[in-house]
Amino acid sequence: MIEKTLSIIKPDAVERNLIGTIVGRFEKEGFKVVAMKLQRLTKDDAKDFYIEHKARPFYNSLVEYMTSGPVVLMVLQRENAIAKNREVMGATNPAQALPGTIRKEYALSLEKNSVHGSDSAASAAREVEFFFPELVRGC
Ligand code: CDP
Ligand code: MG
Repeated sequence: MIEKTLSIIKPDAVERNLIGTIVGRFEKEGFKVVAMKLQRLTKDDAKDFYIEHKARPFYNSLVEYMTSGPVVLMVLQRENAIAKNREVMGATNPAQALPGTIRKEYALSLEKNSVHGSDSAASAAREVEFFFPELVRGC
C-alpha cells in the first residue's frame, strides 16, 4: 500500500550539514519527498508533537533539544512508507541500530539521534496533519 509518513531531520543533523545526505538516502530507498520545510520549532510545537512522552523523564530535555536549532520537516511517500522509514532510520538508541541505518551512521546519542519517523499509521496521520494540515485537507 502506498503510504505517507512524517520524517524530521533533527537539529543535530541539520547543524552538521547532513540534510542532503539524509534526503539522498531516503530518495535512494525509493521514497518520494512530497512536502518539505526548514523550520525552528517553538516550545509549544515540540511539547505538543511529543505529548505521548509527557510523563517520561527525558521529555523536558527532548523539548529543549528539538527547539535548539532548525529542523527539516518532510512527508515521505512510498510503498509501506511507515515501516520502511523506521527500518532505514534504525533503532532509537544508535548503540542498538543496525549497521547502515541512518542512526547508526550519524546519531550522536540516544537523544540526539538525527531523525524522527512516525511509528504507526495512526501516528503518521496525526503527525502529517500536525505539520502539514494543507496536505490532509487537500486529500
Ligand atoms: O524516535 P523514536 O520513535 O525511535 O523513539 P521514541 O521512544 O518515540 O522517543 C522519541 C525521542 O525521544 C527519541 O527519538 C529520542 O530523541 C528521545 N529519547 C530520549 O532522549 N531518551 C530516551 N530514553 C528515549 C527517547
Ligand atoms: Mg516515537
